[in-house]
Amino acid sequence: MSKQILITGVAGFIGSHVAQALLARGDMVVGLDNLYPYYDPAQKLANILEIEENLHDADSFIFLEGDICDPLFVERIFAEYQFDAVVHLAAMAGIRSSITNPALYFKVNVNGTLNLLEAAVGKASPVHATRPMVRNFVFASTSSVYGPTKQIPFVETDPCTQPLAPYAASKRAAEIMGYTYHHLYGLNFTALRFFTVYGPRSRPDMLAYKIAESIYKRREVPLFNNGKMYRDWTYIDDIVQGVLAAIDRPLGYEIINLGRGEPVLLAEFIRLLEQEAGGKAHLVPTPMPDTEMPYTYADISKARSLLDYQPTISVADGIRRFLDWYHQRVIRGEREALLQKCKSGIR
Ligand SMILES: NC(=O)c1ccc[n+]([C@@H]2O[C@H](COP(=O)([O-])OP(=O)(O)OC[C@H]3O[C@@H](n4cnc5c(N)ncnc54)[C@H](O)[C@@H]3O)[C@@H](O)[C@H]2O)c1
Repeated sequence: MSKQILITGVAGFIGSHVAQALLARGDMVVGLDNLYPYYDPAQKLANILEIEENLHDADSFIFLEGDICDPLFVERIFAEYQFDAVVHLAAMAGIRSSITNPALYFKVNVNGTLNLLEAAVGKASPVHATRPMVRNFVFASTSSVYGPTKQIPFVETDPCTQPLAPYAASKRAAEIMGYTYHHLYGLNFTALRFFTVYGPRSRPDMLAYKIAESIYKRREVPLFNNGKMYRDWTYIDDIVQGVLAAIDRPLGYEIINLGRGEPVLLAEFIRLLEQEAGGKAHLVPTPMPDTEMPYTYADISKARSLLDYQPTISVADGIRRFLDWYHQRVIRGEREALLQKCKSGIR
């Protein structure tokens, strides 16, 4: 039976893909986003446009522009719609930028999440609900919560008490807050810890995008620790598969890694990108910042057993798909915009 799902952060990289996957299987999606200009909001609007262009049923997707930090806005949404599940992806999501603006990171990632949890358990409704208003709450957490752990691969039983940046601390706080709402109100809450997600619509501050920019536009990109870092690159379609499985399975309270479970040396990831693009990135050797972990490596046995999760896209294949998109959206898009500008200038 089709479900009605609230996606926060729907205009972003992961949110727009989750929305399309849910719509493709016949669910209804209410998506909210405040189009925060951490990166170009035009990229986010283009994501929304792509969702809308591919709808089979025009009424199956509703986009609401607004801020999860505004409790009245959040309350109004829950008063107007009934949701089977909430997929909470809206966040300030940059690790290093969280150092310059920790208050904003905590406001959005902790207080914003709190507003959604309050609404999800019915505290916002005029008649106090006796049980949660939504059957399932899926929260986007991150591999960054593992910090400098010595337990490799990263396993969910790790205490995660040493986050290296305000971003990671805010996500760990939200995971823990989810437990309280599960304990007090019986809310099903699953925190999914995503590991370095990449693919079409990728955020421009993420490494795959920066390397592509460096290859095609000769931009400099810092290379930490001479590329001697491991990242568990996970292709967006695999993450979406895990998110959909989590939506469909209320599990009480769980924290689950979603990675590929096969870390790749950063230098090797860049080499594969360069090989596929047929050019060289302009890398600037830079010491590793204090916010960075030398390793990310997901133990995905819990995801396999609880969600039947099975990553399928190899890094080589993922890079190919990412670069295809980069050519289509970024390079061709810029060329077309330039042509438009020239034409209107001529006229
Ligand atoms: N991309 C990754 O590799 C990765 C890894 C780990 C965790 N995550 C988490 O996954 C989620 C999605 O990440 P993404 O890469 O798609 O990032 P993104 O920045 O592309 O998407 C997040 C969206 O949230 C929106 N948003 C921010 N503040 C908001 C607010 N106050 N109210 C409403 N909307 C708001 C933004 O406008 C943006 O569109 C985030 O929670 C992030 O922390 C991502």
